Amino acid sequence: MTARYKDETVARVRDASDIVQVVSEYVQLKKVGNRFVGLCPFHSERTPSFSVSKDRQLFYCFGCHAGGNVFSFVMRIEGLTFPEAVERLAARAGLDISSDLETEEDRAARERRQRAFEANQLAMAYYCHVLNRSTSAQARAARDYLLGRGIDRAVAERFNIGLTPAGWDGLVKALSAKGISRETLVECGLALVDDGSGRIFDRFRNRVMFPIINVWGRVIGFGGRSYDGTNPKYLNSPESLVFSKRRNLYGLNLAADSIKSSGRAILVEGYIDVVSLMKAGVPNVVATLGTALTVEQARLIARYASELVLFYDGDDAGFAATAKAVEVAQSVGLAVRVAPLPGGHDPDSFARQEGPEAVKALLDDAEPFASYRIRRILQGTDLSSIESRVKAADQVAETLASVSDDVERAEYLREVCEKLGVDPQVLSAAVRRLVAAARDRQRVPSVRLKREAFRPVDSSPLASKAYFEVERWLLLLALTDAEAAARIADAVGENPLSTSPNAKLMDIVLQARSEGKHIDAASLVDAAGPELAGYVSELVGSEDAFDLDEGAVDRALDLLRRRRMQVRLAEIDAEIKQAESAGAVERIKALLKEQVELRQALGRDIALY
Ligand code: CTP
Ligand code: MN
Repeated sequence: MTARYKDETVARVRDASDIVQVVSEYVQLKKVGNRFVGLCPFHSERTPSFSVSKDRQLFYCFGCHAGGNVFSFVMRIEGLTFPEAVERLAARAGLDISSDLETEEDRAARERRQRAFEANQLAMAYYCHVLNRSTSAQARAARDYLLGRGIDRAVAERFNIGLTPAGWDGLVKALSAKGISRETLVECGLALVDDGSGRIFDRFRNRVMFPIINVWGRVIGFGGRSYDGTNPKYLNSPESLVFSKRRNLYGLNLAADSIKSSGRAILVEGYIDVVSLMKAGVPNVVATLGTALTVEQARLIARYASELVLFYDGDDAGFAATAKAVEVAQSVGLAVRVAPLPGGHDPDSFARQEGPEAVKALLDDAEPFASYRIRRILQGTDLSSIESRVKAADQVAETLASVSDDVERAEYLREVCEKLGVDPQVLSAAVRRLVAAARDRQRVPSVRLKREAFRPVDSSPLASKAYFEVERWLLLLALTDAEAAARIADAVGENPLSTSPNAKLMDIVLQARSEGKHIDAASLVDAAGPELAGYVSELVGSEDAFDLDEGAVDRALDLLRRRRMQVRLAEIDAEIKQAESAGAVERIKALLKEQVELRQALGRDIALY
């Protein structure tokens, strides 16, 4: 049984476990100023960049950016889960927490999940048995179908691929005999209830079954493919208390290790694409579960990798899906590359037709999305037509606006301007306008620990970095002082922070404050979760850089208001251009009026732009 402890218990253990003492049991620390420093135990180094703050009860490594509180430290160094770390530290401090476990309600929910996992596990075994052992004509046809797609017995076993019999209740009978209840079968989507008779029957019938298994090896759901032309092509498990399409990836159970060690994940769209690529010697491949890539999935990938290669179909639909996925993946800080397939191919057909070497070559040649998109734009441009060139320049400007690296952007710009015969000054001005307009909507990577990664992606860093910094400042103020927090809550209530992860952390701080709970840096680390531990530690550690005196709240809020006005001004520029080309006179008037008002309110500060 995995234990879950109440928040009060966790706080009690934390208070009893001084981080300097705990860390000293593993690392030789030396006092330097008001910090303790030593050699980082999480990466190899010769000069100490690992620092522990007694006041804050946090640690942070300036070398590898590991950071967090005393629980994060013990979890990481001992390889423990959170509850295990709580237990370990409780034992160390001589606290008895054995009666502080989860509530009755929590336990009931956990046991329901447990039963759902068990039912899915048994269902998988049953489906595999049917595929491999059944002598029915149907099973033979399914095996032939799979062989025709390059999936032999060994491959099927590796992925636990199975088959549902054609009848109505093969699975229901088999699992009922093993003691799985009717409720559980319905709850995890393996069976449906017949409205008339009230009896239950199998949801999946006569399909090849791909079990979806999470990183901890739990069977959470199934994708069932028809193999005899029946529609729909795929029938998937419904969302349930153990299955969420948005939060899981097919193949991650097999791919996680190699994704972690290579730092790189390959993303495809189909179950069969995963099977086929792994067979072709690509171990770090995963697929979405029938939806476009979600932020949750991107975060899941970012836990293991820093780079994502999109390996989608080469047709227009594939390109559109790629563009969407790029945006999502970039928003969580993943570096994204694209390996475009030749038209008409999906990864499976390509791998089977061209072979493993060709797959490897395509993946090795994966290029940054911007470069890929620009290439496509240029390919589709008729250089003899002014109109076509103008359209291409617009599209290129949009692409370049999303490139954060100045040098990289300048390089693309030079190349494109030459090819399109556009004045580089004009194109780069257009890019700057787009960047300004996007600034307010810009999302900041939220999972990498490196401070640099949290900065907005932006070319004119002054304004937008300043925006990010003012939000950090407010966050520190809200964390340090309850009264400041109340005032900030009023001010940002309608208009929450916009840069991640500041926005998320501010929510946590204000929520806790509004409930009258005590919140400090160490408890914020627990509330925010392990991905943000390093960020919080770094932020709190750099508080000297911020003015936290009396009056600071006013100044910070005022600055935030001004930043927002500046961002709005930049947007208005772009909107006026749009309205002009649409000939929307009333709209233009309204925008100009807003512009004048904002300029007056800002006074001399507009110069920032
Ligand atoms: N999908 C789905 N429901 C459908 C069609 C597709 O859930 N009716 C999902 C499945 O996860 C599938 C993925 O979208 O794996 C990609 O679809 P597609 O390319 O059509 O399927 P493949 O897996 O490539 O299957 P096949 O090669 O057998 O056509
Ligand atoms: Mn396919």
